[in-house]
Amino acid sequence: MKVTPWEVEGKINYDRLIKEFGTKPLTEKLLKRLEDIVGELHPLLKRGIFFSHRDFDWILDEYKKGNRFYLYTGRGPSGHTHLGHLIPWILTKWLQDKFDAELWFQLTDDEKFLFSQKLELEEANKYAYENALDVIALGFDPDKTFIFTDIDYAGELYPQAVKVAKKITFSTAKAVFGFKNESNVGQIFYTSMQAVPAFLPSVKKGKNIPCLIPLAIDQDPHFRVARDVLPKLGYYKPAILHSKFLPGLGEEGKMSASQPQTCIFTTDKPDEVKKKIWNAFTGGGGSLKEQREKGGKPDICPIYQYYYYLFEEDDEKVKEIYTSCKSGARTCGECKKELIKRINSFLEKHQEKREKARKHLGEFVLKD
Ligand code: TRP
Repeated sequence: MKVTPWEVEGKINYDRLIKEFGTKPLTEKLLKRLEDIVGELHPLLKRGIFFSHRDFDWILDEYKKGNRFYLYTGRGPSGHTHLGHLIPWILTKWLQDKFDAELWFQLTDDEKFLFSQKLELEEANKYAYENALDVIALGFDPDKTFIFTDIDYAGELYPQAVKVAKKITFSTAKAVFGFKNESNVGQIFYTSMQAVPAFLPSVKKGKNIPCLIPLAIDQDPHFRVARDVLPKLGYYKPAILHSKFLPGLGEEGKMSASQPQTCIFTTDKPDEVKKKIWNAFTGGGGSLKEQREKGGKPDICPIYQYYYYLFEEDDEKVKEIYTSCKSGARTCGECKKELIKRINSFLEKHQEKREKARKHLGEFVLKD
């Protein structure tokens, strides 16, 4: 397996990532503490899709003391948003509601330009505002949500980024991100930009505010560096909640925009969704007869995972899908058909909200 901020490949072993990245498992006990505070747990938490953390216990301690936190997450705008991107954002929205917390949302048009062979800076910047529509469509509170691109908010971000950059040596950047002598110098600097929203609200308000970052675990290396540097600048280390990746529709690996046929974009039309799901790999038998006799393999099936991650909120029903697949009672055909219906019904509403959001961008976006 390979997991870096720019490449995720192979079969992911999440226990191994906890060890290699030096994070902590999100335990039942810690989840229970959260549940005691907010009254319930989101399915993404109950089902272990968020599975790891850094200092989440500290965030809850501070909250109990009356020291409230804000949320920070982001998106690299290299194209349209797909369903996998929504996972951290959905939990972030839930946390905003439960804790009445601000969200600072970074769109890294600079990063996607620096790390891509083809993408022009202007294109990345355009996608940033397309992606912002998806964020807004999830229902974030306009009074408490601040969305910005690195380029259009550079006047605020850059002076802070240079303070971070001065504390990171080239050898640290190389060790953490694997840069080579051939890497362009913008790439080497970039992590300093991603660190800034982890303390910018503290700068603006003139006092230290705890920061919680829900993210997919591939982004953790940036914050390993930021957590070293921020205390040296007088700020708290940000806390983190790590999610797993939504699988792609192929046999292995996460949903990835570089393989569009294995990935459902929030802008896909019903026919495209139908075609992609219909062509997807499953854990089913070679023939209907074989499937009825031996049953399917939900554990390796992306279709099952989509129910589990996003498209069946009821825990009992998700169990039922699992057992009826394993026993051979549920066929891949009916399972796919039902999933197509659910995804398209979600996307129909999402796309409507997404279009409405165009008029409201100004209420969310920060620019210099
Ligand atoms: N680098 C991230 C990406 O490529 C975008 C990002 C910026 C981000 N800040 C973040 C993601 C904070 C998670 C949390 O997608």
